[in-house]
Amino acid sequence: MDIAFFSAQKYERPFFEQSLNGFSNITITYFEQSLLAQTAILAKNFDAVCVFVNDTVDKAVIEQLAILGVSAILLRCAGFNNVDLPIAKQHNLSVLRVPAYSPEAVAEHCVALMLTLSRKTHKAYNRVREDNFDLNGLLGFNLHNKTVGIIGCGKIGQALCNILTGFGANVLVCDPFAKPGNYTITDLNTLLAQSDIISLHCPLSEDTHHLIDDAAFNKMKTGVMLINTSRGALVNSQACIKALKSQKLGYLGLDVYEQESELFFKNHSDEINQDDIFSRLVSFRNVLITGHQGFFTQEALTEIANITLQNANELAQGQTLTNQVL
Ligand code: NAI
Repeated sequence: MDIAFFSAQKYERPFFEQSLNGFSNITITYFEQSLLAQTAILAKNFDAVCVFVNDTVDKAVIEQLAILGVSAILLRCAGFNNVDLPIAKQHNLSVLRVPAYSPEAVAEHCVALMLTLSRKTHKAYNRVREDNFDLNGLLGFNLHNKTVGIIGCGKIGQALCNILTGFGANVLVCDPFAKPGNYTITDLNTLLAQSDIISLHCPLSEDTHHLIDDAAFNKMKTGVMLINTSRGALVNSQACIKALKSQKLGYLGLDVYEQESELFFKNHSDEINQDDIFSRLVSFRNVLITGHQGFFTQEALTEIANITLQNANELAQGQTLTNQVL
């Protein structure tokens, strides 16, 4: 099994090289380029492509891959909203993913965003370096006894519930498939109305696209904190800007952004940012944005590499596919 590995980053290679030691039948060729219509040709003569969240696996790309003889798409991530599944099916391409590599990694990053926004440790860090020990402007709030609403209580949502329960927060959950647990299950409107902090953990789909829009903000408490570590398009960024300006939205923590494929995972520091919505969001003092690093821990990268190569191996050996999307 020869794999064309797109969007290859320096930091992930050691984890894949380590894991490759266990699979003598697999080779990986790393390409720094993202997969898109213009770069798909690089996959010529490979059995599979390995892609990440911001690679484009749409109709144009899949049609090219099929012509080039590629028979599988190995996602080294959980979400598969960037793959046109009906077209992949039409061309008999297998699609495999890494359904869970470390839910705790993302859940812990959520809490990092919550605490940084609430306790303003990022501001304190800079002040102390300037010998400024003034506490004005650093007033925070306790998570203890706050109501945190979790939309989507799968693996990551549940891991977050477990952490928040330790903080003594009251956790509300909205999920059509929620099982009873250490939280109160409720409907979306009640969650929006009662939560001091809202955190998104549902997948992006037609149903959840712009789940958080003007109407949703209208139902929330004034000064609410919103955290999105799931997928950017769950949130309407323009509605966020409006809610931040009116102070309805008191704190915003994002690890994902609707147009992130243009920006994230690359250094653009010597360019002029052309995305006015992103620039406006960053300009608010009560907004904290990280560049899709929720998953980015040693433990998660080890799991991602191991499971991706296990998926490839199962395909190569004609075994039952544990993590098959298609
Ligand atoms: P999961 O599949 O275990 O859980 C998703 C949950 O959302 C399910 O329980 C499902 O019933 C629920 N859900 C579906 N539609 C819903 C709706 N309309 N309203 C409320 N709940 C709904 O997925 P997991 O592993 O917890 O991941 C969640 C999301 O986190 C992924 O879809 C992915 O987009 C994102 N993610 C982000 C990462 C990062 O680095 N920032 C890393 C990994 C995942």
